Amino acid sequence: MLNLESIYSKNANNMRKSVIRELLKLTQQPEIISFAGGLPAPDTFPVEELRAAANRVFDTNPKKALQYGTTEGDLDLKAELIKFEERQGVKLGPDNLLVVSASQQALDMMPKLFLDPGDYVIAGSPTYVGAIQAIQSYQGRVLGIPFSPENDGFDLVELEKRYARAKRDGKRIKYIYVIPDFQNPTGICWSLEKRKALLEFSYRNDLLIVEDSPYREVRFLGETLPSIYQLDQQAENRGTVINLKTFSKILVPGARVGWIMARPDIIAKLVIAKQAMDLCTNVFSQMWLAEYLKTGKIYDLIKHTCDNYREKRNYMVEMLEKYMPKRFDLTWTKPEGGLFLWISLPKYIDTDAMIHKAVAEKVAYVVGSAFYFDEPEHNCMRLNFSYANKEQIEVGIQRLAKVVAAEIAAHDAGPRGQTHPEGL
Ligand SMILES: Cc1ncc(COP(=O)(O)O)c(C=O)c1O
Repeated sequence: MLNLESIYSKNANNMRKSVIRELLKLTQQPEIISFAGGLPAPDTFPVEELRAAANRVFDTNPKKALQYGTTEGDLDLKAELIKFEERQGVKLGPDNLLVVSASQQALDMMPKLFLDPGDYVIAGSPTYVGAIQAIQSYQGRVLGIPFSPENDGFDLVELEKRYARAKRDGKRIKYIYVIPDFQNPTGICWSLEKRKALLEFSYRNDLLIVEDSPYREVRFLGETLPSIYQLDQQAENRGTVINLKTFSKILVPGARVGWIMARPDIIAKLVIAKQAMDLCTNVFSQMWLAEYLKTGKIYDLIKHTCDNYREKRNYMVEMLEKYMPKRFDLTWTKPEGGLFLWISLPKYIDTDAMIHKAVAEKVAYVVGSAFYFDEPEHNCMRLNFSYANKEQIEVGIQRLAKVVAAEIAAHDAGPRGQTHPEGL
C-alpha cells in the first residue's frame, strides 16, 4: 500500500477537518432540529428575481457568460459593488476591488500571500473556524487574544501584553484577523472605540488588519458603525486594512461570489495568487448577480432579511429565557445582527461530551471548542437562529434545556454535590 502520509506535503498534513462540517453530517437526519449550521433562511432567497436576472444574462450576453473571464472580476459587477459600498460611505475605485469565489477563498488567499511556515496571525479566541483552517493549511500559527462578551470583543490589554511577549520571543507576526460585525461564533459587535483602538495598534506596530465582514449588513438592531476599513480611510488612509465581503448572507451563498477591498498594490498581488487557484470567479455567477444588483432590489431584500432574523433572534432569546435553568453561570449573548448567539454554561459542563446527548434528544449545536486553536473552552456552544422556523426554535430550545438541566442535576447529585452542596 502506498504510504500517502509521506507523500502529502507538510501543508496537506497540517490540514484539519472542520468540526462543523463533520457535525453537519451527523445532524442531517430529518428529525433533528439543528442550530448547528450557519445557513441563511432559504425563504429569504429572491428566487423569481434571480431567475429573471439569469434569463436576462442568457438573453443578452450568453457567450460572454459561458466564456473565461478576467481574474480581477466582471466590470459590470465591480461597478455595482462600487455603488453598493458607496451607499455605506466606502470610497472605492476598480483597482481597490477583487471579485472572489466568496469570502472563504479570500480567507485562503490571506495566508497564501502573507505567511511563511511558522509565521503568526493574531486572532480572537474563539474565532471563525474556516479562517483557522486556512491559516493552518499554510503552516501558519495563531496568536490568540481572549475574546469574550464581557469584553466587547478583543481584550486590548491582553493584546498589548501577548504581542509584546511574542515580539520578545522573536515570533514573526503578519496580520490581525478580526470579524468586528457580529462575530462568528459569538455574535459580538465591536464598539467604535475598540475599532479605533485596533487600527491605532496596527499603525503603531506596522501590522495589516484582515477585516472579515460577511455579516456587516445583517444588522437588525442598533446603529451601523464604521468598518475598520472605513476608519482607516477617514484617518491616515494608510491602506493597511483588507476588507472581505460576500453575498452569502445578504443574497444567496450558492452563487459563491464575494469581494476583497484593499489598496491597489495588494489587489495586484492577490490577482496573481488567484490565477493559480481558479483563473477567475464563475463568470455566469458574476454577470447574474450584476443583473440582479442593477434592479436595486438588494436593499429591500436586506431589510426583509434583517426583519426575519430579528424576529427569530428575539424568539430564540425568549425561548432560552423561558426554558433554560436560571443561573448566574448560564448566559447567552443577545446579538444585534448576524446569524449566531453564544451560550456559556457552568464550567463543569463539557459541551463536546454533551453533544451526543443532545443529538439523542434530537437537537444539535456547534461545540464551542471548535472555534479555538489552542486552550479551548469546553463549556460553550454556538446556536444559529436564522435557519430554523419559530416552531422548531421553541421545540429545539426545550430539548436543549432538558439536556442542560440534566447535566446540572447530575453534577449537583454527584459525590461533590452531596458532600459540599453549592453555596457552602
Ligand atoms: C466569519 C466568516 N467568514 C467567512 C465565511 C465564508 O463565507 P462565504 O465563503 O460563503 O462567503 C463565513 C461563513 O459562514 C463566516 O462566518
